[in-house]
Amino acid sequence: MSSWINSTIDKEEAENHIQSGTNQEGTKALQNLLGEKAFNYTKPPSLLKGLLSQSTGPDDLVLDFFAGSGTTAQAVAELNKEDGGKRTCILVSTTEATADEPDKNICRDVTARRLSGIGIEFAYLRVATRPTLEQGRHLDDSAIWASIQLLVAQNIAANPEEGAALWTRETDEALLCFARRLDASVLSSIEKLDAPQGKTILVFSFQPGPIRQRLMGKSGLRVEALPDALNRALLPASTGGAL
Ligand SMILES: C[S@@+](CC[C@H](N)C(=O)[O-])C[C@H]1O[C@@H](n2cnc3c(N)ncnc32)[C@H](O)[C@@H]1O
Repeated sequence: MSSWINSTIDKEEAENHIQSGTNQEGTKALQNLLGEKAFNYTKPPSLLKGLLSQSTGPDDLVLDFFAGSGTTAQAVAELNKEDGGKRTCILVSTTEATADEPDKNICRDVTARRLSGIGIEFAYLRVATRPTLEQGRHLDDSAIWASIQLLVAQNIAANPEEGAALWTRETDEALLCFARRLDASVLSSIEKLDAPQGKTILVFSFQPGPIRQRLMGKSGLRVEALPDALNRALLPASTGGAL
């Protein structure tokens, strides 16, 4: 590292070397924004900026999954300003809550405040722990639909019509369906579904039996049993069901 990163105190500049300030610079940068010392071991934005300018192009997406106070986002914004880039970033961090400080949330109180302070546009999302789905269903249909979409499409679209018994969404690979309940009219709706351009019709249901029985011959149809399909996919055996 020492041959790669030069301290800014060290006036001697070498080619391909990053000039970096110290954590003190990082602490000051954050203190200037928030008016208080809110975080320990803040990295200097100049270090992150140096690393980013060596390793990213102007349209890259930067991921920092130990984001802490959000120095990475500040560095991304500063570098974009300097070189006209359009880099975006995703920051992930724990709240740092403990038994002694259950309400601590550095993401909300430090990182998000910092990003607002420097005028970065961002969405603030909280990740929830999803319990294992039991046969008796502990989740509402929206949460189940979100899990199904994440499993198949790795993203979530706007909720379909609240009153509909069959929720559907076309993804790149499949026509994704969630039969929220099952009766003759839902079965007949599934029967009438057309697979767009040879895509699979992927139906998730808590009652897969009757669908399979009635629509066995329907081409391109695959029926996945809930809750097993989600639990199998989302919960590796090693987690013991506690994702
Ligand atoms: C050394 S700090 C990062 C400092 C950051 N570069 C800055 O300048 O603010 C590491 C951060 O990772 C977070 N962290 C620790 N374990 C984590 C985990 N499992 N998932 C996400 N973040 C985690 C900590 O809460 C801490 O804020």
